[in-house]
Amino acid sequence: MTTRREFIRTAAATAAATALQAPLVHAGGSDLLKVGLIGCGGRGSGAALNAMKADPSNRLTVMCDLFPDRLNQAKQRLSTQLEKQFDVKDDNSFSGFDGYKRVMDSDVKVVLLCTTPHFRPLHLQAAIDAGKHVFCEKPVAVDAPGVRKVLKTSEQAKEKGLALVSGLCWRYDLGVRETIKRIQDGAIGDIIAIQENYLTGTLWHRGTREEHPEWSEMEYQMRNWMYYTWLSGDHNVEQHIHSLDKALWLMGDQPPVAATGLGGRQVRTGEQWGNIYDHHAVVYEWANGVRVFSFTRQMAGCKNETEDIIFGTKGQAQVIKHEITSGGETWRYKGDKPSMYDVEHVELFKSIRDGKPINNGQYMCYSTMLAIMGRMATYTGQRVTWDEAMNSKLDLTPESYEFGPVKLPPESLAIAMPGKTKLT
Ligand SMILES: NC(=O)c1ccc[n+]([C@@H]2O[C@H](COP(=O)([O-])OP(=O)(O)OC[C@H]3O[C@@H](n4cnc5c(N)ncnc54)[C@H](O)[C@@H]3O)[C@@H](O)[C@H]2O)c1
Repeated sequence: MTTRREFIRTAAATAAATALQAPLVHAGGSDLLKVGLIGCGGRGSGAALNAMKADPSNRLTVMCDLFPDRLNQAKQRLSTQLEKQFDVKDDNSFSGFDGYKRVMDSDVKVVLLCTTPHFRPLHLQAAIDAGKHVFCEKPVAVDAPGVRKVLKTSEQAKEKGLALVSGLCWRYDLGVRETIKRIQDGAIGDIIAIQENYLTGTLWHRGTREEHPEWSEMEYQMRNWMYYTWLSGDHNVEQHIHSLDKALWLMGDQPPVAATGLGGRQVRTGEQWGNIYDHHAVVYEWANGVRVFSFTRQMAGCKNETEDIIFGTKGQAQVIKHEITSGGETWRYKGDKPSMYDVEHVELFKSIRDGKPINNGQYMCYSTMLAIMGRMATYTGQRVTWDEAMNSKLDLTPESYEFGPVKLPPESLAIAMPGKTKLT
C-alpha cells in the first residue's frame, strides 16, 4: 500500500518532470523587455514595481484599467517610482472593458494580469493567443467553467513556450519552500491533518450607491468588486486561496475527493456588502485519509491569525512561521528572506530570458477550484465532490460587459442560503 508520504512524493516528482518538458523560447538576451499592466489597482501597481525591479532591462510601456481615474492615479505613482523604467505614453494607455485587447495588440512581450478575478480566464486566453508571457494574479477564475478554460489556456502556453507565473506568492517564499520541502521529506512523519486559518479584519469599501448616484449598477459593482461573488468568487476564493494553495502543495498538488462546509453573513449584513459571506469553515477530504480543516473570516474586533498548522505522525509544523517541531526539537528557517513578490518576478523574467519558461498553470487552477469547491459546499450546505465541482455548469458570466444594469440571473446576485441554494 502507498504511504501518505510516497503518495505526495510521486505526485511532486510527476509535476517536476512535466515542467521539464516545456518547450524553450529565447527573448533576445539582454534586450529591453517591454511589459504591459492590466488592472492598475493596489496589486497591479505592486506587480509593476516587482517586475521592473526584477531586471533593469525591463520597461513598463503599456497600461490599462477599466476606469480612467484608476489608470491615471497609477500612472502618476509609477512614473515617479520607476523613473526611466516607466515609458507609458498617452497613446499606450487604455481603459474600458475592451482596453485589454489594445494591450494584446501592442508590442509588449509580457503582460501582468491584475484585474478583478472575474476577468482572468478571458484576459489570459487573449494574452496566450497574442503570444505574451504572463504574470497572472490569483484567483484565476470565479467559477468552474472559468477554471476549465484556464486549464486549457495553460496547456496552450506550454505548447507555445510562453511563461505563466502565478500570483500565489507563497510558492515563491524561500522560507515556505524550505519548510514545505522538509515536511515532504518526512520531518514530521506522515501528514495526518492540516489546519488552515485565514482570519482577518475587514477590507475597503469604495462608496455606496447613495454617495455615487452617478454610477450605474455595473460601475457600482465593479468599483466594489470584492463583495460580489461573480466578480471576486467570495472572500474564501479571493483571499483564503493563499492558505488552500499551501494545503494543495503539501498534498502533492493532488486534488481532494470532497468538501463539506458551513458559512454565512453574521456581521456584513447590509446591502453594501453585496452577496458574499463573511465567514466560511470547510473540511476537505483527501483519498489517503488526510483532512484539511480550513477557516476564513473577515470581521473586525476578532482574533486574527493567518497560519498553516500541519499535524504529522512525528511532529507539527507552522508553515508561515517557517517552524517545524519534532522529537522535542524545533527547527526554524534561518536563510535569506527576500520579498516573495520580488522572487516571483525575478524567476519569471529569468525563465523568459533563459528560454526555460515557468508554467504554474496546473496548481493555480487546482487551488482556485479547491476554493470554489469550498464555496459550493458552504453556499449549498451539501457535501461536494471534486468531480461535481470541476464539472459544475454554474457560469457567473453576465450577458454583456457594459455600464448599465448587471445582466446576470437573479440567483447569481442573491445571497446563497444553505439547504436551499442548489449545486449547479
Ligand atoms: N498575491 C497577493 O498577495 C495579492 C494581494 C492583493 C491582491 N491580489 C489579487 O490581485 C487582483 C487585484 O486586486 P487589487 O487589490 O489590486 O484590487 P484593486 O481593486 O485595487 O485593483 C483592481 C483593478 O482592476 C481594474 N479592473 C477591473 N476589471 C477590469 C477589466 N476588465 N479591465 C481592466 N481593468 C479592470 C479595476 O478598475 C481596479 O483598478 C485580485 O485578483 C486580487 O485577488 C493578490
